[in-house]
Amino acid sequence: MITFKINDQEVSARPGWTVLETAREHDIDIPTLCFHPAVSASGACRLCMVELREGSWSKLVASCIYPVAEGLQVFTETERVRNVRRWVFEMLLAACPASPEIARMAAKHGVTSTRFESHDPEQTCMVCGLCARVCEEVVGLSAIATVDRGVHKRVGAPFAKPTDVCVACGSCVTICPTGAMQSIFDSIRGVPATNLTQLG
Ligand code: SF4
Ligand code: FES
Repeated sequence: MITFKINDQEVSARPGWTVLETAREHDIDIPTLCFHPAVSASGACRLCMVELREGSWSKLVASCIYPVAEGLQVFTETERVRNVRRWVFEMLLAACPASPEIARMAAKHGVTSTRFESHDPEQTCMVCGLCARVCEEVVGLSAIATVDRGVHKRVGAPFAKPTDVCVACGSCVTICPTGAMQSIFDSIRGVPATNLTQLG
């Protein structure tokens, strides 16, 4: 086992675990959006940032992809962490202004407005890629892809054409943290879904 500290509390982890996995194992809360234990972590949203300190030196890292190491000193609620968390929530509020899930989570952390400009008032997707990863890694298909670039980057069917690869299992809808896949789903298949099996 590897031993280190989170918020001055001694914790233990198996080799290969991340800081986030260890925190969750010890009931230490770190907010996340693009992480789900069923699929590989991507480090896309940066909401799970924590501060590592050693003497006067410190740095911020994404806890969902940062591997544990003996003697780490991790802090989850410092001023630097709260500042970056606020910044990430403001970015998300601007990127997904129509997502009640994002608004709810941001408000829970005291963020109810954003200084950043929104390019699409109807947008709910944060392009975190969780839907594509669950399709590929858990369902074993590749019915969802990231298409276009820059501010036009979005998820949809590969090559932006409806696909019959999709079996309408609904895993992507279930895993989506913003509620966006609910409205994207039919455009991936090109026909309304009739047999979703995973919807909660
Ligand atoms: S549809 Fe949902 S899961 Fe897929 S990229 Fe957008 S926010 Fe992430
Ligand atoms: S939850 Fe770690 S980067 Fe999104």
